[in-house]
Amino acid sequence: MGRLLSLSLLGITLALLGEKFLVLRNRLKASREVESIDLLNCHLIKGIEAGSEDIDILPNGLAFFSVGLKFPGLHSFESERSGGLLMMDLNEATPRALELRISRGFNLASFNPHGISTFIDDDDTIYLFVVNHLELKITVEIFKYEEEQNSLLHIKTIRHELLPRKLSPEAVYDDGSSTIHLPAMPAPSQRVGFVSQYLETYFNLHWANVVYYSPDEVKVVAEGFDTANGISISPDKKYDPCRNMLNFPQSWWFIYVADMLAHEIHVFEKHANMNLTQLKVLKLDTLVDNLSIDPSSGDIWVGCHPNGQKLFVYDPNNPPSSEVLRIQNILTETPTVTTVYANNGSVLQGSSVASVHAGKLLIGTLYHRALYCEL
Ligand SMILES: *[C@@H]1O[C@H](CO)[C@@H](O)[C@H](O)[C@H]1NC(C)=O
Ligand SMILES: *[C@@H]1O[C@H](CO)[C@@H](O)[C@H](O)[C@H]1NC(C)=O
Ligand SMILES: *[C@@H]1O[C@H](CO)[C@@H](O)[C@H](O)[C@H]1NC(C)=O
Repeated sequence: MGRLLSLSLLGITLALLGEKFLVLRNRLKASREVESIDLLNCHLIKGIEAGSEDIDILPNGLAFFSVGLKFPGLHSFESERSGGLLMMDLNEATPRALELRISRGFNLASFNPHGISTFIDDDDTIYLFVVNHLELKITVEIFKYEEEQNSLLHIKTIRHELLPRKLSPEAVYDDGSSTIHLPAMPAPSQRVGFVSQYLETYFNLHWANVVYYSPDEVKVVAEGFDTANGISISPDKKYDPCRNMLNFPQSWWFIYVADMLAHEIHVFEKHANMNLTQLKVLKLDTLVDNLSIDPSSGDIWVGCHPNGQKLFVYDPNNPPSSEVLRIQNILTETPTVTTVYANNGSVLQGSSVASVHAGKLLIGTLYHRALYCEL
């Protein structure tokens, strides 16, 4: 923890120094303010007070939250408590977020969950893939969800030379093609360590990569990002409106990657061998964090930081804002970008993810609260 603290101080110091650099100010969107856009039927979720960085919703309406992330340079409202995983059943009339019990033997004290992904195998067993930020390394933890006890059984820890000591690999997902307990999955990663993450912020080094991981093969499939974040896969191709519109072949799948500091979303074609070809880059005026895809429409929902500098230099009187964008038809010449929700931090600070299911929207944050809305 001492080390994390000193790294946090380093982060804050660098962020403060950074005020001098116009480039950095622009990259962090230091001076952008948002006009509030409210949604009518929203309330804060009870029990989430110290961040819910990632939220993943299963097709059956079960939503999983990673909570309590500690990250160098970022504020924390519960710095002494380790992180956890919560579940909310969106089929209930008034859904509640319940903490998931984790099987014995797993080191809960150092658990620092960041990005999560879900995977359902052929027997309908649900697995959670959770990126765990330990002090100087990163692991991916695989859990099996046991619905009856509402608990998680720890199955396995994935470590790999492309994962340790990388700062911001955010999460993983599977491509659904494998039925074993360790499905093929790519994981974003960076070649840089803690300190060079900040160097990257200053010097725009484009050091982040997207790495594909499977039990048989690990490879870099896309490189040269400022920050490779929020990796998502397009939904079942038959629902993909872009495919229909542009008359793509049946086997067409997309991978979306958010480049947070470059304010961009990259769209890739995914090949059968998991190689990626870039199709498009969409520029936005905000720090794009996690992406989620509405399985019913193919729309991309993005949790964004309109003024990223406030995330690092936390001032309760001038907190970071929240912003949720919906992007429709990203592959066409004129994608529709709608700001669905925006708040100056008086309700919700530092939105990192927005995820939808059957008319319900969940918005998570880096270190603040989480919002449940009916659309
Ligand atoms: C957030 O991003 C990670 C990848 O960085 C991904 O695994 C996860 O599914 C994303 N969350 C949502 C809700 O899409
Ligand atoms: C896929 O990428 C690898 C490098 O990662 C390259 O060697 C290979 O030729 C590529 N395959 C195809 C089909 O593009
Ligand atoms: C945020 O907006 C609310 C009104 O929606 C206002 O009362 C408050 O002063 C604003 N806060 C900041 C920090 O601008």
